Amino acid sequence: MQGKKSFSRVLGTGGYLPGKPVTNQDLVNRLRELDVETSDEWIRERSGITSRYFCGKMSTRDMGCIAAKQAIEAASIDVTSIDLIIVATTTPDLVFPSVACHIERDLGLERCTSFDIQAVCSGFVYALTIADLFLKTGTKNNALVIGAERLSTILNWRDRSTCVLFGDGAGAVILGKNSVPGIIASDISSSGKFCDILRATGTPKNGVLEGTGYAEMQGQEVFRKAVESLSESGMKLLNACDLDVESIDWFIPHQANIRIINKVAEKLNVPDSKVVKCVHKHANTSAASIPLALNEGITSGQIHFGDRLLLQGVGGGLTWGSILMDL
Ligand SMILES: CC(C)(COP(=O)(O)OP(=O)(O)OC[C@H]1O[C@@H](n2cnc3c(N)ncnc32)[C@H](O)[C@@H]1OP(=O)(O)O)[C@@H](O)C(=O)NCCC(=O)NCCS
Repeated sequence: MQGKKSFSRVLGTGGYLPGKPVTNQDLVNRLRELDVETSDEWIRERSGITSRYFCGKMSTRDMGCIAAKQAIEAASIDVTSIDLIIVATTTPDLVFPSVACHIERDLGLERCTSFDIQAVCSGFVYALTIADLFLKTGTKNNALVIGAERLSTILNWRDRSTCVLFGDGAGAVILGKNSVPGIIASDISSSGKFCDILRATGTPKNGVLEGTGYAEMQGQEVFRKAVESLSESGMKLLNACDLDVESIDWFIPHQANIRIINKVAEKLNVPDSKVVKCVHKHANTSAASIPLALNEGITSGQIHFGDRLLLQGVGGGLTWGSILMDL
């Protein structure tokens, strides 16, 4: 007997930014105390960033849980119907157990399939793709997919070429099994050849951190590879689905740098009016950036039910990916 085909659909979103915004000028003042020179003008011109949020004592799990609760409420589902939790993060609180298992406990759940995935700034695109596969195969019914980061804990405040570009936060979606897509298709890729252009070395060994524990980046190389991989991935996915770029209502790229966002949009021929941009507000929050942007687009009333979205992420690895979906 042939079963009914399953798809997955976003049922609700949530987002959380900790504390108060730290403006470029706030950061300039703090860095001056360390003899690190930067300026509001340099940060804005090179990245489009005007502020970011830092989590202080909050954990990745705390922020992820707040975003998750919002998504559950927006989806109007009973929390006990969640049977899969995937957290995309590069800054977990512990070596183990996973952030996902902690969030399972914090939500009062007892029997899920919960795990973290690590694909840096592409983490959310990877996690959503994995959740979609679980739902499509009928193995799971309601997935909680979270991107959560406390990048401030791995920034070297003496390296001005990285520390001004990142921030903390969390975003979440509930993805539910559905008889119509939802997620139309996705493309996730990596090229380990570029492992060294964006990385944070550091692993606990015999109780001591081996490596620097700080994010390091070859900025210009990352910029070039990001633009190249995202424009290729977007075209590939649209062609595979036999869809024109005109059918996209909203382009929701990883919020790393306004110049990367604008260049990719230009290469994909997406008009500026269809691009969701919030990097200015919270800087690069890695795996949290896409669900934060999606949540912002929905809660601000820009994005509506039924809209067609192109989501894109790129990050260390190098990893990158695109998802086409109908909301
Ligand atoms: C990081 C990035 C903004 C730097 O911009 P850039 O135009 O490439 O700048 P450069 O690295 O060539 O540096 C130019 C100058 O600015 C200086 N500079 C670097 N950081 C600075 C800062 N925060 N404030 C002031 N000056 C700074 C450099 O020291 C250099 O000075 P010099 O010319 O005297 O040597 C840019 O490469 C970039 O956006 N890369 C991608 C970053 C990204 O999004 N990564 C995450 C992807 S997931």
